[in-house]
Amino acid sequence: MSYVLSFKPAIGLYGQHDPSAAIFDDGELRFAIEEERLTREKHAVDTFPERAIRACLEYEGIDLGDLEKIVLPYEPALRTKILDHYLKNTVRLDGTLEKFTHLRNVGRDQFKSRYVPTRLVESRLEEIGTPLPPIERRSHHACHAVSAFHPSTFDEALVLTIDAKGEYDSTVVWHATADGLTRLRTYEHPNSWGLFYAAVTNYLGYRMFNGEGKVMGLAPFLFSAVFSSNPLELGVLTGGWATPITAIRIRL
Ligand SMILES: [Fe+2]
Repeated sequence: MSYVLSFKPAIGLYGQHDPSAAIFDDGELRFAIEEERLTREKHAVDTFPERAIRACLEYEGIDLGDLEKIVLPYEPALRTKILDHYLKNTVRLDGTLEKFTHLRNVGRDQFKSRYVPTRLVESRLEEIGTPLPPIERRSHHACHAVSAFHPSTFDEALVLTIDAKGEYDSTVVWHATADGLTRLRTYEHPNSWGLFYAAVTNYLGYRMFNGEGKVMGLAPFLFSAVFSSNPLELGVLTGGWATPITAIRIRL
């Protein structure tokens, strides 16, 4: 038996939505569940996946101390690569107080991600049980890539991961083989198709990071029902799209 638990914390540095947990035994997926299924709150925003973790452990009849390790799908140490972007944002802000507050928050996050990247997660896990196994962290986009590649049954593939934002990267091209991943190309925040999709979702009246699935589902029905041509394409090509996309900058 060699148990590994993985989960998305959805607190602190680890994102805000869709926490979940999965448990593996000797590399084989045994059980996985999203926290929202247990709390009955859609996307379980800002929620530590305590119920999902407990469900994984209960399924195997084990405790946290029986795990070989825990793996988190985010590497806070990589956030130093986004520092440039946040410092540029600080310069653009109006007012000395706003600049100072923003700079202080950036410094605090950088310190946490460098020196205490898992402390918050550890304290929540200690409420479930002790001793804690070692906690490892992985690049967010690498996790997306392997979760698509390994179940695909391909021996080799090009993998494209498009997210709102990983630690600093928004889109990555990978070469994947059974031996692992090679990062071929990286598109960094704020150049993000995921955030652009979030802006479209917001424009259509849905909540960002919540209604994207509805937009995806509705998209095929739009043209024939309402428009004779593609309004998004028209707006982009003519520059006539008047949505204040820059307004979402404060959310990033
Ligand atoms: Fe993601």
